[in-house]
Amino acid sequence: MNSTHAGMLAADAIRPRASRWPARLDVAQSVSGLLLALFMWGHMVFVASILVSKDAMWTITKLFEGYFVFGESYPGIVSVIVALVFGLFILHAGLALRKFPANYRQYSLFGRHMRGMRHEDTTLWYWQVLTGFALFFLASAHLWWMLTHPGMIGPYASADRVWGDHFWILYLLLLFAVELHGGIGLYRLAVKWGVFEGKDPAASRRRLRAAKWTITVFLIALGLATLAAYVKIGIEHAPQRGERYTPAWVQHEGGES
Ligand code: HEM
Repeated sequence: MNSTHAGMLAADAIRPRASRWPARLDVAQSVSGLLLALFMWGHMVFVASILVSKDAMWTITKLFEGYFVFGESYPGIVSVIVALVFGLFILHAGLALRKFPANYRQYSLFGRHMRGMRHEDTTLWYWQVLTGFALFFLASAHLWWMLTHPGMIGPYASADRVWGDHFWILYLLLLFAVELHGGIGLYRLAVKWGVFEGKDPAASRRRLRAAKWTITVFLIALGLATLAAYVKIGIEHAPQRGERYTPAWVQHEGGES
């Protein structure tokens, strides 16, 4: 064995084998983000049902509480759903930590890079980091409250919280943070995994960006209208705060338990 060969063998022994874990963690981050984004679309339908009517929102709430299956409300079911979403959120946030700039040097290098490039996708990534950081706190506050007060959801219960307990402030910030974050996240996911990539990648990226902004603006507008509806009901209902909503067609005592 000559010395060069021996040297190569020694180098091979020292160099760790390329790990598959970074790739696995990347896939886990993409999948958990996609599931959270899909959940948020369902969440928007559920919460925005107040724009249809109080009865519509009441019915969806009761559906989640198992009322139409068991004939009685079990808010514990809501807590189980919240716990699952919370778990997914924590997993996604934990995985995202790997991508955060870790110190001042990395931040200033990235800032210089972003200003120099003036490339929309790089700027979008920066906004995703900022909104993601805000979501650590905003989403945790909301999820913790829902986890521990699952029976306090409904047309009046929610409106009392939004207006009477000043949750509209949290929700306003949360709405912008989550819609910007989710919109950018889905766009980046599509670019990263080459979804909808036609023959001309530049053209399909332009189309993706246009679709992304359309969806984000639509969801923010719908969210603001929804929030305004809860605020309106909350103001009107303030004198009877704590009283629950029961649709006229429900002959069951307690209604919105
Ligand atoms: C299973 C978990 C969740 C449940 C049961 C839930 C439930 C609700 C309910 C009932 C409301 C209406 C207001 C109220 O009652 O206080 C609401 C509003 C809201 N939630 Fe959630 N939520 C969940 C997860 C999330 C997550 C993960 C986010 C975002 C990260 C989020 C963002 C919002 C926003 C922004 C509003 C304000 C309404 C709007 O402007 O559209 N929620 N949520």
